[in-house]
Amino acid sequence: MFKPALQDGHNRSVSYVRISVTDRCNLRCNYCTAPTFFQHNRTQILSYEEILRLVKVLVGLGVDKVRLTGGEPLVRRHLDSLIARLNDIDGINDISLTTNGVLLEKLAVPLWAAGLRRVNISLDTLNRQRFEQVTGRDYFKRVRAGIEAALAIGFTPVKLNVVVMRGVNDDEILDFAALTTKYPLHIRFIEYMPIGSSSIWNPADMVSGAQIIKAISSEIAGLEPVVAEFGGPARLYRLPGAPGRIGVITAMSSHFCDSCNRIRVTADGRLRACLLSDNEFDLKEALRADADPSRIAEVVRLAVAAKSAEHGLSCNATRKCARVMSTIGG
Ligand code: 5AD
Ligand code: SF4
Repeated sequence: MFKPALQDGHNRSVSYVRISVTDRCNLRCNYCTAPTFFQHNRTQILSYEEILRLVKVLVGLGVDKVRLTGGEPLVRRHLDSLIARLNDIDGINDISLTTNGVLLEKLAVPLWAAGLRRVNISLDTLNRQRFEQVTGRDYFKRVRAGIEAALAIGFTPVKLNVVVMRGVNDDEILDFAALTTKYPLHIRFIEYMPIGSSSIWNPADMVSGAQIIKAISSEIAGLEPVVAEFGGPARLYRLPGAPGRIGVITAMSSHFCDSCNRIRVTADGRLRACLLSDNEFDLKEALRADADPSRIAEVVRLAVAAKSAEHGLSCNATRKCARVMSTIGG
């Protein structure tokens, strides 16, 4: 079937939407949540019905891939029912979830039953005390149980997102990398980005992808690049014989904006064409006014046409985007 591609002004087509289903979270990661953190109430965020109507419009424009994010998406009730209904939409070929893993042990079975087949779990440390320092909660054991549950049920791949911060967790790069020799995990080291209005980000805290790869290959022999089977912005590597993969996401040192195929929808129903640009377009108003799908499509087209060529951040930059990460969902 012919699908009109959603083209931006820079020769890229959009096929992937990341939808934040809540800005609430059961963790308080110090780099994410502003102290004066504002949460929308239930009536301000998109209902599941509104999300489904929006996704149907997006499918009509050529989107075939959806990721659910937060805040923490699993704190929103009955997320499995949303996933099951997304799964029923003709034209959606891939559904994924980014979670902090705290509730995953409890929810892995219903999520699988709803048709979810892959998950990304955010985890910055393997040390329980440090986990509490970074996230404000003593939930490391729950997250570990969540990861084990995800592997046991058969989610493929299970990706762990590790934001590397100098002096915080850069001494754990080898421990994370070593997990890939035991488990079929994709460990994805993410460069620390300047996000959030009261972000504590400092250029010196960022560890580059090149430094991460060097740290691994200077200690463990045989790290080799591999072709990505599942797409995405990570550059992938494998240790000899390892069932897992090691990836680096170099959003800062070597951005991948020219291959960007994604848009984001915030929990309160705004379309953000670039993670790092505060140029947002309101979809909620049209969805609430029960607007014709063609009007909603028009807002999407306008937003995509205005998508910037690149994020314009550099490792020396001090520019930070105004929204906190927990309202965009990464
Ligand atoms: N830089 C890089 N990654 C971040 N995340 C949250 N804040 C930042 C930041 N400042 C990550 C989370 C999660 C994903 C949604 O985004 O750790 O893995
Ligand atoms: Fe941490 Fe993600 Fe929650 Fe922010 S949304 S506090 S990064 S788990």
